[in-house]
Amino acid sequence: PSTKEELLAEINRLRVEKNAVILAHYYQRPELQDLADFVGDSLELSRKAAETDADVIAFCGVKFMAEVAKILSPEKTVVLPDLNAGCSLEDACPPEKFKAFREAHPDHIALTYINCSTEVKALSDIIVTSSSAEKILAQIPRDQKIIFGPDRHLGGYLARKFDREMLLWPGVCIVHEAFSETELLKLKAQHPDAPIAAHPECPPTIVDHADYVGSTSGILNYAKTIDADTLIVATEPHIIHQMQLAIPNKTFIGAPGADGNCNCNICPYMALNTLEKLYLSLRDLSPRIEIDEPLRLKAKESLDRMLEMAS
Ligand code: 13P
Ligand code: SF4
Repeated sequence: PSTKEELLAEINRLRVEKNAVILAHYYQRPELQDLADFVGDSLELSRKAAETDADVIAFCGVKFMAEVAKILSPEKTVVLPDLNAGCSLEDACPPEKFKAFREAHPDHIALTYINCSTEVKALSDIIVTSSSAEKILAQIPRDQKIIFGPDRHLGGYLARKFDREMLLWPGVCIVHEAFSETELLKLKAQHPDAPIAAHPECPPTIVDHADYVGSTSGILNYAKTIDADTLIVATEPHIIHQMQLAIPNKTFIGAPGADGNCNCNICPYMALNTLEKLYLSLRDLSPRIEIDEPLRLKAKESLDRMLEMAS
């Protein structure tokens, strides 16, 4: 298949033949979101992966998300269209360094953002996503000391909101880090009635101007409920596709980077997945996610705690 229509026809044939479910994150290209069986945020996608009765999970997202699917559904074949679809937060937290940091702070528990490697999950006590972090943190006694990694902006946001000190690992998301406060304020001056919705992976210079702060699904729900005609969206701009589908009569503007437009905020890792690579991954059932069983079982403990505490 070479045209878009032929690729779609082949993907539709293969998904039935292989009994595959296609899961996609909101940051995926619109054509991948459109053909997915389910589009969601990190927590929703984890739940779907744990529940599905398909034989194959084709994960249109990044590697740590596909690994979560495999950890929770080990008997399934999990394919990721491009194995190089990583995450700057995962890269910022090498397991050996995280282990040494934990050992240097034995009286702290590790509350860890899902955007990390399976090894780091295995070294953690509780995993959180941006949509579950507040609910989970509220259940941890105030005298319990906490290491939060790898996203220092999400950690800092939670620490400020809960007025709670946490030791923060110094990782950042290169996508959310790239929004420009100056350009955002210029845009706001042009659209004074447009509220700003921001993901908590953004630095405080952006989050402090936001009318709403939340996960991708939280931002999407906010877009559905606000009165305003226009919304400024400070997260990866591919989510705007779902907003336009759900609320076609409103205008959504991606928050700008230093160059004044939102294209520099496209996640380069998420963008590696394409229709053609999805087709190949379904045809060949490759690249597959494989995880050693002892590591999987250890990582599953911290993920199960999240699913329990977030429910
Ligand atoms: P959520 O979809 O959970 O808000 O996560 C955002 C993200 O950056 C995923 O990589
Ligand atoms: Fe990682 Fe940021 Fe891309 Fe999400 S948007 S996958 S946090 S680099």
